Amino acid sequence: MRARLIGIGPGGPDELTVAAVHALNDVDVFLVADKQRGVDDLVSVREEICRRHITGEYRVIVVPDPPRDRAPERYGNEVRDWHAARAEAYETVLREQVLDGETVGFLVWGDPSLYDSTIRVVERIRERGIVDLDYDVIPGVSSVQMLAARHRLVLNRIGGPITITTGRRLARDVAAGGDNLVVMLDGGLACTELPGEWDIWWGANLGTSDEELVAGRLSEVRGRIEAARARSKSARGWVMDTYLLRRA
Ligand SMILES: C[S@@+](CC[C@H](N)C(=O)[O-])C[C@H]1O[C@@H](n2cnc3c(N)ncnc32)[C@H](O)[C@@H]1O
Repeated sequence: MRARLIGIGPGGPDELTVAAVHALNDVDVFLVADKQRGVDDLVSVREEICRRHITGEYRVIVVPDPPRDRAPERYGNEVRDWHAARAEAYETVLREQVLDGETVGFLVWGDPSLYDSTIRVVERIRERGIVDLDYDVIPGVSSVQMLAARHRLVLNRIGGPITITTGRRLARDVAAGGDNLVVMLDGGLACTELPGEWDIWWGANLGTSDEELVAGRLSEVRGRIEAARARSKSARGWVMDTYLLRRA
């Protein structure tokens, strides 16, 4: 069996590469995880992308995601267990609902290389050895690239490093010396807890029609970010934000 892991960009139905559109048209059956969490249910965005860009026939199988503890005591172990459960759920669908010779597609939000489990889960399926699966990865525009483009930013200072991290890890990465960081997966604006003065370039629902952008000194624009975040959420039912944070 062959699988294609296709980066679909950060939300807008037109933010795909030409290579991604070719790959979409090569797929017989898409497996789409249903996160069953209301605001995070982005299945309909993926369906819209298929409708808009695929000319031939295809099937979509929605695979219910295994339940997951969002605030576990041991984060790494919890995520590994969840990957294993997800691999089993996909494997069952591959064995029972996909025919020999069919090409399977995974629509990966943004780019598959950044904070996404699809490559790890497909590797788990291969390790289990029950389904004979080969795959390739088609890169997509990540939310980080979209943030940089929208704010017309170069992410690194000249010749300098950039840290890409999560809200959960931000304080630790700053304490370790990070002063030029992209922050993802931060539902609570962890940057507002940091000591010192920071400049921020923030974006929510990038690439969609409800995109919001704010930039400036964090202490001065915090209120605008919170209001914009609430607007994006009420417009679309979900909000995802990413920001560049640089010590002032
Ligand atoms: C599970 S990660 C997936 C990242 C994705 N693979 C990528 O390349 O952007 C989800 C996080 O990505 C960021 N994100 C994804 N889509 C976004 C969007 N349209 N606008 C802003 N941030 C987004 C947010 O930080 C969100 O918490």
